[in-house]
Amino acid sequence: MARTLSPETMATVKATAPALRQHGLAITERMYERMFATHPEVEAMFDKAAQKSGEQPKRLAGAILAYAENVDKLENLSGPVMRMAQRHVETHVKPEHYPIVADNLLAAIKDVLGDAATDDILEAWAEAYWFLADILIAKEHELYADQPSA
Ligand code: HEM
Repeated sequence: MARTLSPETMATVKATAPALRQHGLAITERMYERMFATHPEVEAMFDKAAQKSGEQPKRLAGAILAYAENVDKLENLSGPVMRMAQRHVETHVKPEHYPIVADNLLAAIKDVLGDAATDDILEAWAEAYWFLADILIAKEHELYADQPSA
């Protein structure tokens, strides 16, 4: 796992915060639409009510925006990261699911932002996604190991 993101990557990700504030929900709605169309087994992991009411796309958009804004001070996110990891363990999220979300999230960013999503931006977000994913995967690994039946 990379110990830190490069200053360039952090700056690029941070600079996308205004676009995410404006279009974050459209991006996460598009992401779920894409992902559920090809991965029904992933769709089954999600609470239908939270999905229908738009709650889950809102939560993910909020998390992504908070990450963009705090990418250079991740200690601000330790509480939310712990809550995400706990929810992921409750819903049986595993490391092999992370590439599916990565592919669909990056494609959704491109779909929604169009030409504004330059290669530099998409590369920075891919790197930043995996940095956060590695933190979540490690936390989830610990939580699974703490479960009596795991
Ligand atoms: C870096 C990647 C990810 C981020 C930032 C993220 C973020 C979140 C957030 C903010 C929540 C809501 C937590 C709450 O209830 O307060 C959540 C819940 C959830 N996430 Fe993730 N997630 C990521 C990856 C994944 C992956 C790979 C999967 C597996 C397909 C997944 C499946 C879920 C599920 C099933 C829930 C519970 C939704 C429900 O209540 O119906 N997430 N995630």
